[in-house]
Amino acid sequence: MKLKVHTIASHVNTVSLASVQADVLLVGCFEGEVASIASSSDGSLKLLAEVTSGAIATQAQADGFTGAVGETLVHFAGDRLSTKKVVLFGLGARGKGNINSFRKAITAALKKAKSLGATEIGFSQLDPAAAAGTDTYTMAQSLASYAGMLDYVINHQKTALGGHKAEKRFAKLHLVGTLETANEMFRGLRAGFQVASSVNLARDLANEPAGTLTPAKLAKVAKAVAAANENLSIKVFDHKQLKKMGAHALLAVAKGSAEKPCLIDLVYSPAGSSESDPVALTLIGKSVTFDSGGLDIKAADGMRNMKRDMSGGAVTLGAIQAIAALGLNIKVRCVMAATENMINGRAYKPGDVLQTMKGLTVEVDNTDAEGRLTLADAIEYAKRQGDTTIVDLATLTGAVKMMTGDVGACIFGNNDEFTNQVFSAATSQNERLLPVPMWEEFKASNNSDMADLKNSGGAPGSTTAAYFLRAFAGEEIKWCHVDIAGVAFRDRDMGPDPRGATGYGVRTLVELATRLSAKS
Ligand code: BES
Ligand code: MN
Ligand code: ZN
Repeated sequence: MKLKVHTIASHVNTVSLASVQADVLLVGCFEGEVASIASSSDGSLKLLAEVTSGAIATQAQADGFTGAVGETLVHFAGDRLSTKKVVLFGLGARGKGNINSFRKAITAALKKAKSLGATEIGFSQLDPAAAAGTDTYTMAQSLASYAGMLDYVINHQKTALGGHKAEKRFAKLHLVGTLETANEMFRGLRAGFQVASSVNLARDLANEPAGTLTPAKLAKVAKAVAAANENLSIKVFDHKQLKKMGAHALLAVAKGSAEKPCLIDLVYSPAGSSESDPVALTLIGKSVTFDSGGLDIKAADGMRNMKRDMSGGAVTLGAIQAIAALGLNIKVRCVMAATENMINGRAYKPGDVLQTMKGLTVEVDNTDAEGRLTLADAIEYAKRQGDTTIVDLATLTGAVKMMTGDVGACIFGNNDEFTNQVFSAATSQNERLLPVPMWEEFKASNNSDMADLKNSGGAPGSTTAAYFLRAFAGEEIKWCHVDIAGVAFRDRDMGPDPRGATGYGVRTLVELATRLSAKS
């Protein structure tokens, strides 16, 4: 697989909207104000009213454009602007907007620009407080990250022979700012583009067929990510080293596959940190590059998307890439225990009893509950490195969809304060996350007659799976588990996400690292 990085350039114009040279201008308009834009306090709208001699307000009236969030109106503004095509987009009521309504508003506007074939996009100047309840930096960050996420294409493998014409990608964003705000805009744009590019890396990895994205290939990509930043280091443990480590839960899952498993450990050490500094945040991502179910084989419908069962790993890799590129002041580790779950004459079997790296024994109740086995050893690996704050992301249980559908994820943990931190980071990024309590009544569901635990504890499947992981995390460290099985990929597009892999979690993890770094 080729790693594709598409970069979008940016420019901050400190003169005037009229001189922005782009393919379309996106002009924000507050709800109920379009009729009176000729006397608007907003310079961009006033200018528009002037150059169109009021035609834009007349068209808005005719088309029923009110300025509500999600509405757009395409208008040809004529020769008095350097950019002739305008997309008016609704911001909702002045002063009532928040960052999420703003993200929704620009999603509609950017999608409209894309449908018009625009590659250079101009934005009218907006008051960040009135339009988005935020500051210049955050508003610019949102613009860039959403433009980058919305620009994602899945069809790298379509060819000209098959009749494919390369689609137009966003090439440049033009913002209008003042000398005072330009610097904040640039900082926000840079951060936003980086986050989008890491989301898109995670999507590319999860969309990549399992035939090419094997555990070894995932390690190769992780090495490329590490090589691109001098503050990232990487270790990859092969199956022999895993045996020495005692990672028999991971190895058991891998037994039925022709592809060798590996454990990937990336560390980001911020500039000025020393080797002895502890890791402040550990990201563990489920990295099953294909889940056939093993001997408890999945039916066709359940197997179809299982090339994406490494979405958690892809997201943690994307997150540490962004954290490193942004130069956040926090030491972060990312662990991916990579394997396939397949079938051959050596495949692990229901009834087998496994010796995990931690030493706990596990009876295999179901070979399709493989993710928690790989994570058990990954968690123990991180704990052996001395890590004390762990969040894992995993496409762990189909049952999670009963609660979140394909909209969000569920979070479980052993420490309410930490779980709340992750929850609030997710919410600030508009990544939907549902906290689920771990009622102690469910703990015994994983009890086995033969061994310390069994790997499937029945209903409620997502909570009993979380309890299985908790047996490995223990109570001494802070740990939480995000089950992304519902949201890691979708068969429809939603918000800034295309169909297929969403990259859900990258923004949450980057925000979490940002918040934790501000504390230390
Ligand atoms: N990778 C699957 C979970 C999954 C299902 C992810 C659908 C994304 C979409 C996981 O390994 C699995 O098979 N879980 C089983 C557990 C059961 C056997 C206890 C499940 O959810 O059915
Ligand atoms: Mn499975
Ligand atoms: Zn799985």
